[in-house]
Amino acid sequence: MLIALLPGDGIGPEVVAEATRVLKAVVGDRLTFETAAVGGAAYKVHGHPLPPATLDLARKADAILFGAVGDPDCDKLERHLRPEQAILGLRKELTLFANLRPARLFPELADASALRPEVAEQIDMVIVRELNGDVYFGEKGMRKTASGRREGYDIMSYNEDEVARIARVGFETARVRKGKLCSVDKANVLETSQLWRDVVIEISSEYPDIELSHMYVDNAAMQLVRNPGQFDVIVTGNLFGDILSDQASMCAGSIGMLPSASLDSAQKGLYEPIHGSAPDIAGQGKANPLATILSAGMMLRYSLGLVAEADRIEAAVAKALAGGARSPDLGGRMTTTQMGDTVLAAL
Ligand code: IPM
Ligand code: MG
Repeated sequence: MLIALLPGDGIGPEVVAEATRVLKAVVGDRLTFETAAVGGAAYKVHGHPLPPATLDLARKADAILFGAVGDPDCDKLERHLRPEQAILGLRKELTLFANLRPARLFPELADASALRPEVAEQIDMVIVRELNGDVYFGEKGMRKTASGRREGYDIMSYNEDEVARIARVGFETARVRKGKLCSVDKANVLETSQLWRDVVIEISSEYPDIELSHMYVDNAAMQLVRNPGQFDVIVTGNLFGDILSDQASMCAGSIGMLPSASLDSAQKGLYEPIHGSAPDIAGQGKANPLATILSAGMMLRYSLGLVAEADRIEAAVAKALAGGARSPDLGGRMTTTQMGDTVLAAL
């Protein structure tokens, strides 16, 4: 099975290197790896953040392990050349519409959470985020108002088929968990959200066994901090899911801990930590590789059918944490490589 490695920018290469070591240790020569440039790193060499060769590799691979993109050197480029367009382009070109972002607290990290331990302990949820639509992909631009003032605009929209397909992923995810689905929207203000809510309710008739609730996104942000234990599965749009998953990560200990899977309808997937390229700490060995290692575990589970191996990775991460493995984001001093070493030793 072929794995595309797309390390990208900032801390991406450091964390992908550790996850690759873990994959090699667990799955050995059943996997082959090919690396390609993506993001600002690709722009600097090939003049484009998602060069054709990278997209080709992503298409032909059985799964993709992605680091991060984002580079302050590129912030002044035209939008279509910025590093972030690489991940957006991959999600769109490969129809990776379903983003699963599990957030749970490893008990050893209760102290690292931004919440009180007894509140943080309850966290065990999956955020199902839509990835192919919303304000991310609507018409956007800069224009002048009638009085000549600059105006930026981004159109938010969802059609009913897009909502229905992600809603089904939400219901299916809830079905193999605690059977509770909370759909997050802003239906009190946005038409896009009103359609979202209507369609989620329609689809719910296919899932009578699932307990469906609805929550406005502002309330959801508040509830994530007040009582995160109430959530089992959250299904939401691209923008709200982006924001709420960063928030959930700090509730669960650190943004350095949260993995994600972006899947198409055939379970082909791109796997990446939810954190970004963190240019401020790039190249210093300070990055926590656990989110990427856990993403590699999700890859084995969801796209490659290697469930026992995925369990081994998760158990090794838990054991490493129990043994005191702590990178700076978790209040410790271990380097990226030492964190990787500790997980390898725990396997
Ligand atoms: C994420 C990131 C991306 C997003 C950026 C890098 C475009 O924040 O995966 O959460 O907004 O989706
Ligand atoms: Mg994000």
